[in-house]
Amino acid sequence: METEVKKIKTAVVGVGIFGEEHAAVYAEDERVELAIVCDLNEKRAKEIGKKYNCSWTTKTGDIATNKEIEIVSIATPDFVHRDAAIEMASSGKHIIVEKPLATTVQDAEAIISAAKKAKVKLMVDFHNRWNPPFVRAKEEIEKGNIGKPLMLSGKMSDRIEVATKWFKWSGKSGPHWFLFPHLIDLICWLTGEKVLDVYAIGKKEVLKKAGIDTYDLVQAMLKLENCFATVETSWILPSTWPSLIEFNLSVHGTEGRIDIDLTDQGLRISGKNVYNMPFISGKMEIYDRTHGFVPMPIKHFIGCVLKNKEPLVKPEEALLNVRIIEAITKSLQKGEVSFVKT
Ligand SMILES: NC(=O)c1ccc[n+]([C@@H]2O[C@H](COP(=O)([O-])OP(=O)(O)OC[C@H]3O[C@@H](n4cnc5c(N)ncnc54)[C@H](O)[C@@H]3O)[C@@H](O)[C@H]2O)c1
Repeated sequence: METEVKKIKTAVVGVGIFGEEHAAVYAEDERVELAIVCDLNEKRAKEIGKKYNCSWTTKTGDIATNKEIEIVSIATPDFVHRDAAIEMASSGKHIIVEKPLATTVQDAEAIISAAKKAKVKLMVDFHNRWNPPFVRAKEEIEKGNIGKPLMLSGKMSDRIEVATKWFKWSGKSGPHWFLFPHLIDLICWLTGEKVLDVYAIGKKEVLKKAGIDTYDLVQAMLKLENCFATVETSWILPSTWPSLIEFNLSVHGTEGRIDIDLTDQGLRISGKNVYNMPFISGKMEIYDRTHGFVPMPIKHFIGCVLKNKEPLVKPEEALLNVRIIEAITKSLQKGEVSFVKT
């Protein structure tokens, strides 16, 4: 006689564009059940609940008080992770929070402290740690194949529609809070070094004219323990740019160099009316299963909860990431070097 294995119940708070990715993973992964989704926007909560065949609510309390739910994804906008994350952690739920953990060090510390107090797992979704070229780059660096990293340079940008059409909250974030978390996490993870100080300059012009008070572009220099890096981000890539993103990173070492360019993900389509490079490596349905580095960290987190293992991304690394971007923001505002507390 077959015994039915009890599935872990999961939930998602904030089921906009990226929260839906979490819901889709929970709905597909046989180890768990997507019990409920929550969104302040009732229409959206209902739509996603219906699509993934689960309950829906507009109140986070409905999840917090449900004792059967063990894992909760927090995918609310960048600056409102704190309340939902603390409420869920304090109710004993393991939480996977979208990047950045928060947009202030104070909020990030409060979330970590709530998770520690409740003894629940907390992981931030730095999904590029599951992105094959970066995983291979880390292996090559650890094997010593490029010697010692001396200098890194990276760009991560979005087409302008992300800032102007996707979000109502663009003015409360910016390319530095939305995109730098990825680049900066990669730099720290690949080198294993801490960022000591930063200097950044940025420009507010195009988005400001469109009524969105945030930076169009930011360029930052980072001094690490034994190397240095420059990172660039733009939220105003022209709408004619063939990919949704621009994403590249180079690591210059004492004995070699690694170059990763994911703007073109190996596919260029010259269609009837448009030339484009679809974003296929993050997530793609292949024969009814979802593949890519977007679902992988969420599946990893489920595995960590099931096997009581520590997730690959540590809370302290996510906090440091927020500290660095907060220092970049200070440097942008003051026009001077900003030190990062380590
Ligand atoms: N890992 C990645 O590469 C990646 C990519 C895109 C977005 N993100 C992150 O995911 C998060 C969400 O981004 P998005 O693109 O899905 O934004 P979105 O605006 O599409 O979705 C956010 C949703 O949260 C809801 N919401 C807001 N406050 C809420 C609250 N207090 N309780 C419940 N619901 C609430 C909104 O109604 C909206 O539906 C952000 O932190 C963003 O940076 C990560």
